[in-house]
Amino acid sequence: MSAQHPLVTEQMRERVRRARRVFVLTGAGVSAESGVPTFRGGGGTAVWKGMPFSLISSAEMLERDLPAVWEWFDYRRSVLGSLQPNPAHLALARWQNLFETFTLATQNIDGLHRAAGSRDVLELHGNIWQARCAICGARRDLRAGDDNVRPPVCCECGGLMRPDVVLFGEMLPEGVFEHAAQRAGECDLCFVIGTSALVYPAAALPEIARRAGAYVIEINPELTPLSGECQAVIKGRAGEVLPLFDS
Ligand code: APR
Repeated sequence: MSAQHPLVTEQMRERVRRARRVFVLTGAGVSAESGVPTFRGGGGTAVWKGMPFSLISSAEMLERDLPAVWEWFDYRRSVLGSLQPNPAHLALARWQNLFETFTLATQNIDGLHRAAGSRDVLELHGNIWQARCAICGARRDLRAGDDNVRPPVCCECGGLMRPDVVLFGEMLPEGVFEHAAQRAGECDLCFVIGTSALVYPAAALPEIARRAGAYVIEINPELTPLSGECQAVIKGRAGEVLPLFDS
């Protein structure tokens, strides 16, 4: 284990050393040090062409104006395209091989966990680099090929495709939350990193882990509604704190 650090106690290190089944939930804060604006951390682009974020990113808008939704997500991709995983993403990618089971669930659609080398990431809110057919559900990687047709047309059925992300007013992708909840309920150590813990059902996952007896560690520069439920709260930035756990 690396040298002592005031933010990371020996008790936390011991918990990590002894852990067998680890569950991690991440939010926008884990990507903040990569330059991705958070939603409620005051860094975000809350308004797009006069529309609040919660409208342009909604199922209602998808119905009303699909091209406008594509324009918004194309803009977000243009912002994200040059951003790289930070030490927090890289640490979590290293951890996936260290435990009996390791589950990484994220609310982020930026794809930075995958870019850091994390496998089988449970993307609770989808992935901005993917399109999904609104008719047959076929998916397409938007980085494969240079299809700039908007909205993209499905190769399988000719239907119009939409961004493969969960919009306000929509359900999470089938089975992804259930899989995460099962793993949260089986873990002995749970990390909650960079989330305001305000958006459900994702915010319920650490509670499920806590109720199942797991040791819960929160990493966030700010306290959240979840902090009181956690056995350990590290008030710090993910990219600075996570590497401190590396042996
Ligand atoms: N390291 C760790 N945490 C950080 C950092 C950092 N470097 N910087 C900011 N944070 C914390 C903030 O203090 C805040 O609590 O990250 C949290 C980000 O909260 P939100 O912006 O609310 O993001 P998140 O919790 O992921 O939002 C959940 O809401 O808008 C929807 O679909 C969207 O997935 C998103 C969901």
